[in-house]
Formats: sequence, C-alpha cells, structure tokens
Amino acid sequence: MRKIDRAKVRRVVGGLLLLAGVIGLFVWYKFFRDVQVSYADDDENFKYGSIGNEENAGIPYLIWKALPEICPQHLPGPGGYASLGMVYEGREAPIGISVRTIGVPRAAINCAFCHVSTVRVEEGAAPRVLLGATSAQLDVEGYNRFLWACAADPRFTPDGVVEAIRRAGELSWIDEQIYRRVLVPRTRTALLEQRDQVTAWMDAYVPSVGHRRPRWGRGRIDLFNLLKFHRLNLPLDETIGVSDMMPLWQMPPSVRGNYSYFWDGLNDSLTEVAISSAIGSGATVSSLDRDQIGRIERWMTRAPAPPYPYAIDGALAAEGRRVYVRSGCAGCHDTGGARYRAVIPLDEQELRTDRSRMEMWTPEAAAAFNRHAEGTKIDFDRFRSTTGYVATPLHGIWATGPYLHNGSVPTLWHLLTPAERPRVFYRGLSEVDRERVGFIHDAADTTALARKGLVSRYDTSEPGNGNQGHTYGAELSRDDKMALIEYMKTL
Ligand code: HEC
Ligand code: HEC
Repeated sequence: MRKIDRAKVRRVVGGLLLLAGVIGLFVWYKFFRDVQVSYADDDENFKYGSIGNEENAGIPYLIWKALPEICPQHLPGPGGYASLGMVYEGREAPIGISVRTIGVPRAAINCAFCHVSTVRVEEGAAPRVLLGATSAQLDVEGYNRFLWACAADPRFTPDGVVEAIRRAGELSWIDEQIYRRVLVPRTRTALLEQRDQVTAWMDAYVPSVGHRRPRWGRGRIDLFNLLKFHRLNLPLDETIGVSDMMPLWQMPPSVRGNYSYFWDGLNDSLTEVAISSAIGSGATVSSLDRDQIGRIERWMTRAPAPPYPYAIDGALAAEGRRVYVRSGCAGCHDTGGARYRAVIPLDEQELRTDRSRMEMWTPEAAAAFNRHAEGTKIDFDRFRSTTGYVATPLHGIWATGPYLHNGSVPTLWHLLTPAERPRVFYRGLSEVDRERVGFIHDAADTTALARKGLVSRYDTSEPGNGNQGHTYGAELSRDDKMALIEYMKTL
C-alpha cells in the first residue's frame, strides 16, 4: 500500500479550499455585493438615492439603459425614456431612478419617480423641475408596457442586448458571459411573468361595470390594486383604483391619528405611509432601507411648495382669500381648518365625487396590510378602509392639476364651474393655463400628440373617471371665482 503523503493532501485540500473561496468571493462580488447609494444632500438623495427595492424590483442597469436602443418602436416618441415623461437633468439616469450595485449595477424606481414634474414657464426655455410634485407627465402604464413589449420582442436576445450594451460602453469578457448567460434570460423571464400577472386584471373586462378598467394615462396609476393583488396576495376583484399622484410638500409630521393620508385617508401615520410607499415601489419588508425612508419622511415635512411662476394680482388674491373663508373652503383645506386632512364622507351633499377609488380599498385589504409585516420591526397597524375622501392641503395647487383624486377636472376654473367641466380632455402637457389655472389640456395640437401617445386622452365617461361632485363654490359669481383662483395661486 502506498503511504499517504499527508503534506500533499494538505496542499491539495488547501488548494481546493482556496479555489472554492475564490469562486465564492467571485460569485458574491458579481451577484450579491451590495453598495448602498445615498447622497449627503437631501434633494439629491430624494432624486437618486436608493430606497432598497433594487434586489426585488430592479433591472440590471446596462440592460435598462439599452432597452430604448433595442426597442425604440415600442416608445411613444424619440428621446428614450424622456418620451414617457421621465425627467433628465444632465445625469445619465433620470430623476426617480436609483442605480445600486447588487453584484451588478441595478436600476429601480424611487419616490421621485412619481413625485417630480416639470413646468414650462417660458416658451423656448428649459422646463423647471418641481421636486416632490405629482408626476403629471409620467406614463407609468406606458413604461411598464414598454418594458414588457421589449422583453417579448425578437430583438431581445442575449446577442441583441449584449451588442446594444457594447455600443454604449465597454464590457469585460467575464461580464459579457454573465449578461449573456444569466442576466438577459433572467430579466426577460421576469418581465414576461410580470406582464402576465399584471395584465390579467389590468386588461380584463370588468363584468360589474360592463367595461374594462380605464387606462391609467399620464400622471395616474392604480397603485393600491397593484399592492393588493401582487404584494398582499388578495384575490383579483372588480375594483378600480386609478388615481392621480399626490404632492409631498409641507407634509405635517407624523402625529398618529391627527391627519389622514392618501386620497381616501387609508392610513393616518406618515411613518407607515412612507414605509408602505417603499413597498408600493417594489421594496420588500426585509430589503427596504429604513434610514433612507426616515430621511425622506423628514424631507417631506420640509419640502416647500413651488411658488406660482407668474405675476399675481395681490389685491385680487386678498379678495379671493375672503371668498375662500366665506365659502367654507378654509375649514376643510387650510392647515388650521377644523376638517383639514380629515376624511369627508362621500355622501356629504356637495362632495359626491367618483366612488371607485374609495371602494377599491376594502376592509380586507386594510387588514392584510396591517398583517403584512407582522413579526418584524415594522408593525403596521394604522391601515383602514374609509367611506370618503380627504380634504387635502392645497399647497402648490397651481402645479398639481388635473384635479380631484382621479384627475378628472383639468383646471381650477372647471372645479368651481361643474357645468363647464369637459367630458374629454388631454393630460401630460407641462404648460400652465394662466387663465383657468392647471395645465393646458385642450390646445389645438393635443389630439395629434395623443395619437402618438405623448399625451393621454382622458374620457370621463369611463368607469372610475367620473368628474362629478365637489360642487363647493359652484354658485359663486364669475368675479368671486376669478378672485378665488387668484388666491389659490398663492398657496
Ligand atoms: C409608482 C408611483 C409612486 C411611487 C414610486 C411613490 N409614490 Fe407616493 N403616491 C403615489 C400615488 C399614486 C399616490 C396617491 C395614491 C392614492 O391615494 O390613491 C401617492 C401618495 C403618497 C403620499 C400621500 C400624500 C398625502 O398628502 O396624503 C405620500 C406621503 C407618498 N406618496 C410618499 C411616497 C414616498 C415616501 C415614496 C417612496 C418611498 C413614494 N411615495 C413613491 C405614487 C407613487
Ligand atoms: C367639506 C370639506 C370641503 C370643502 C368645504 C371644500 N373642499 Fe375642496 N376638497 C375636499 C375633498 C374631500 C377633496 C378631495 C375630493 C376628491 O378628490 O374626490 C377636495 C378637493 C379639492 C381640490 C383638488 C385637490 C387636488 O389636489 O386635486 C381643490 C382645488 C379644492 N378642493 C378646492 C376647494 C375650494 C376652492 C373650496 C371652496 C369653494 C373647497 N375646496 C371646499 C373637501 C372640501
């Protein structure tokens, strides 16, 4: 029998262990190494920082960046993601997209994705960026459909994607193998799975309303149905919850129970609202970054509403303030008002706006969200189902049109004059209507833009899109309404 050469065995085993270690290190480095992105400056952090959703909902950044190159025909216009309403300001990635390395750089949305907009103050000048606003030009549905269509496109192959990545920059041999063999196929499968799950209800005919769900269109999303069906695992139902984004300016600090948040006041703790918003953005209970979200929560309490960018008639606005108080607006909308941020029952005579969004958030959904993070440090317990809509603050109201929770009324003039509210109008432009206040919604060329998908046609006769209700002030004279609108420019 040959004598075992112990020294040799030790060398071989040692070598194998070293190799396993190196491979392990390599796998960790290329697939799991996590480099958090946050910025010292709070505004920068809001625009580009990570909220902790890249692992669950991110897309390898080089693939994400290459998609508009690979599939320009699935976008509404030239200019890549900007044609879907994303806001660029000189960086490679737009505002609202964080790029965090988890093995490879991964792109995911953050809060600014739906809470930033631009306004074109002067013709020809660069649009002004409004941070914390309602992303009125952003087409979230169009963005998702673009990702799904591109993943299904015959050009979305390992060769096609790697070639597009290469055209934009270097790719080492090792990285090329990783993209080719792992990341491209995985991304494709994930996007197609997501498409099948979401379109199963988004495109489905809804028997109880005899119609399919309305298109979200620019500036809107059915956020809570996404959560219900895909995070809280509730069974598909027939509700419609498409709503406008909401601004994040001058948010009252979290005092449990004092104020209600979201359109129907489904939660009354700002901390829970911020954390659940991160979950709504694709983070999981274990991946979400509490520090970053705490920072954003504090940021929201300080973020100023943007001042109206044109001249205001001070005397007229002062008269408008008197009308505002006299007509009861202040009692519901002033930060000190008795019903400020309270849920106003929908059956109150003068409210009676569209019911769908409110009915979407059922007691079962609230209970499921309260259970969602049980046993972790996040203990949700303030979700509830309500029977009305919140008397929201009107900070920066000139910049957050169209109005009401479903964005069904294009201007403040139309809000005050229900008889003139248009049945059909267009959303997604960034010029201010200085007469009626809101965004331009009926310019001559909007129909052509809508055909391309660069603005969205809004039809108030579709389910969930009703523009009735909130008739406060309807009986005022034309002069009083003009004064009231002048005053609202100052908020
Ligand atoms: C995909 C779009 C989207 C993203 C991303 C998003 N939000 Fe929102 N946000 C909305 C919409 C839509 C509403 C209104 C929903 C409703 O009530 O129907 C809203 C409402 C809110 C409100 C309630 C405002 C009020 O006055 O009651 C807060 C606060 C908020 N978001 C914070 C955040 C934070 C913090 C993040 C990131 C962690 C975030 N949002 C990410 C779309 C988004
Ligand atoms: C009884 C409380 C109450 C009174 C009084 C009231 N509102 Fe409202 N207001 C609400 C509620 C609730 C909503 C949200 C309704 C919805 O979205 O369906 C709202 C929405 C609005 C909006 C749209 C907010 C947005 O972000 O889209 C504006 C603007 C507004 N009100 C202005 C006024 C003015 C001006 C008056 C006085 C003429 C007034 N309101 C009187 C409760 C009230």
